Amino acid sequence: MIDLHTHILPGIDDGPTDWDDSLALARALSQAGVTAVAATSHMKPPTWDNRAEALTGLRVELSQRLDEEGVRLQIHPGAEHWWCGAVLDRLVAGGGQTYGTGTAALLEFHPIEGPRLFEQRLDRLWEHGIIIVLAHVERYKIFEGRDGFRRLARLVDKGLVAQVNLGSLGRGFGWSRGGAAKRMVQAGLIGLACGDCHRVKDVEPAYDRGLKALEKLGGTGVVERLLWRNPSRLLDGIEVDPWSPPQF
Ligand SMILES: [Fe+2]
Repeated sequence: MIDLHTHILPGIDDGPTDWDDSLALARALSQAGVTAVAATSHMKPPTWDNRAEALTGLRVELSQRLDEEGVRLQIHPGAEHWWCGAVLDRLVAGGGQTYGTGTAALLEFHPIEGPRLFEQRLDRLWEHGIIIVLAHVERYKIFEGRDGFRRLARLVDKGLVAQVNLGSLGRGFGWSRGGAAKRMVQAGLIGLACGDCHRVKDVEPAYDRGLKALEKLGGTGVVERLLWRNPSRLLDGIEVDPWSPPQF
């Protein structure tokens, strides 16, 4: 499996605080069956004003340390870009950190407030050839309810890649996030599933409970598409594979 949303680099955001924690998370992901990740540390000024050069240095060092330990986990480029003018301008100017060797970028915004000028700014990113991957779509108020689902469906039709957190899928249907996550998968709106793991304790809810819940919703086909085929394509800057869900 390929996980395109992890906070695995040490000491630069709310992920691991040091190399021991970072390596422990890498081992746990590898043991769960993950073969490659994108290291998507936050780019969220002023709290975590991480730049591409710093991320590259840490990624290279993590790969070296994993090689020395014999842990088979590839570390690909990435970042979780915060939706604000400064970061979006940086992304358009080539100073963000897109996935792998392509032009796909992971973005997030405030779950309740929602982004300003959302659709205009999406259009601007698309005009610059960026494939937009929206992190943990099940969290956002703007996609709640019937109208929210319709809004998300319109954006997915235009090319937005909606990412769901596996940990949300492992929650009960009655939970707002768990329920939204499952319904979004069933509706065929989701293009990518990820762990969004920050530390070792996040791995089991994602890759045991969450993965089982995903398989129950869509069978092995949906797991293959959301955790192998589509992430492989995004690392190469290719649009995700469209999927028509079974009718429920
Ligand atoms: Fe994240």
